[in-house]
Amino acid sequence: MGKLQFYIIADNHYFSKKLWVDGEAIERRCHGDQVVIKESPEVNEAFFKVIEQDAEADLVVIIGDLINCGERLCHDEFIERLHKLEETGKRVLVLTATHDYNGCGEDENEFVASGYGKKEAYRVDCTRRHELDALYRPFGRNEADSEYDMSYSIGIDGYRFILLNDDGNGHTDCGLDDKGNEWLENELIKAKSKGEAVLLFTHHPVITPYPVYEAAAPTEMYGRHPILKGLLTKYGVKVVFTGHTHVHTIRSISKGEKVLYDVGTTAVVSPCGKIRKVVLENGVADISTVDMPEEIDGIEGGSKYIASSCFGGYYRRLIDTACKDYDAFLKLGDGLIPIDQAQKYRFIIRPALKLISKINMSFAGKLGRKYSGLTKKECKEHKNEKVIDMVFVVLDHFFTGDAPFTPDTYEHRVIYGALHRTDAIMRTFKISLSRYINGFDSLWTLVEPLVHNTRTGSDREIIIKINDEVTYEKD
Ligand SMILES: [Fe+2]
Ligand SMILES: [Fe+2]
Repeated sequence: MGKLQFYIIADNHYFSKKLWVDGEAIERRCHGDQVVIKESPEVNEAFFKVIEQDAEADLVVIIGDLINCGERLCHDEFIERLHKLEETGKRVLVLTATHDYNGCGEDENEFVASGYGKKEAYRVDCTRRHELDALYRPFGRNEADSEYDMSYSIGIDGYRFILLNDDGNGHTDCGLDDKGNEWLENELIKAKSKGEAVLLFTHHPVITPYPVYEAAAPTEMYGRHPILKGLLTKYGVKVVFTGHTHVHTIRSISKGEKVLYDVGTTAVVSPCGKIRKVVLENGVADISTVDMPEEIDGIEGGSKYIASSCFGGYYRRLIDTACKDYDAFLKLGDGLIPIDQAQKYRFIIRPALKLISKINMSFAGKLGRKYSGLTKKECKEHKNEKVIDMVFVVLDHFFTGDAPFTPDTYEHRVIYGALHRTDAIMRTFKISLSRYINGFDSLWTLVEPLVHNTRTGSDREIIIKINDEVTYEKD
């Protein structure tokens, strides 16, 4: 096994410029999403250029949700770009996922291939699941040593890359069935006998990024992940690379002495899009993060504009606008909020948002002093900071991981105290959280992983020994 360097890209969600014109329809579509849609070609291009300029990287692995919602034109343009990437000398391995097709019959998913005129959306040519095999076969499966459905196993420079297709319809479990698991086990046995270190890739998370994620959305995990985890730990696989959640986290589970890592990569087109680079050498995987370039061709404001245009950045603008100009807020919120209701209750919503925006961190600190141990003096020192700013820091880190409020920070103690007090009030009124979110009886347990890294210490980087036969000592 020599040195091998490669990139992992997740959730490109590419959407063709030819499928929309400026107007209400595309704005409505964008407001409801957690990733950028209109700017997706420019953002994808910026990352492809980063990869092309890295002469040391030989390979790119793309792990599904390649395009917006099954639009055939998007696949055609995306595939054209992948061929160009190959022309620069990069090998490309692809997995497709749920956003890449439009279901019918048993594989029905909810996606409708659409374009956006000035006022309304319209249907466009779609892609059926069975068509994906031929479309993406040139990117990996043509050279695979073995295949099962659209999963495949391929040997590269003495390493075993196994890519599992888990493009379920979003309503039920996805991932390998019994026969598929037999195929996988066979591949793991063969790899072990050849002394190949295995790297596994799939779209859905195998280990939940945040405990609340699996509790709230179990079918958004890799289907039957306990079986997969059992197989991987049995054969000494150390790492699986996943996407789908758009959350950039590194988490692990252990079984006896064996540890399995799930390295999740955020969406290319999420507000703070990132990709990962992996350097394999001497039985070790050195995994790092590459951020969205600050300057992006065709996007004024570059990555800063992207960060402000969807999810946290967009929600913040929405609240600020509601406080200043309610009519502008109604326009800005179209597609996300029920406009009729927002019109009707403007005399409640606007003052409420104004009030919430003004709550300071001193007041918030006093709420849970009994539990946090904060002194009055400590609380007073934070009277110029706003709770809403702290909430948006947490929200912004939902996708990027590594939220900054470690136990030594004032913010941590404020949240800890306030949530413990809320838990106590709920207990008084016999309100059980576990009735609503399975497995959680405390708000703090639910929220703590979102406040600071309770996982492996860093969501950006890690060094993992992937081959038991090699003794590794960190520098
Ligand atoms: Fe996605
Ligand atoms: Fe997905």
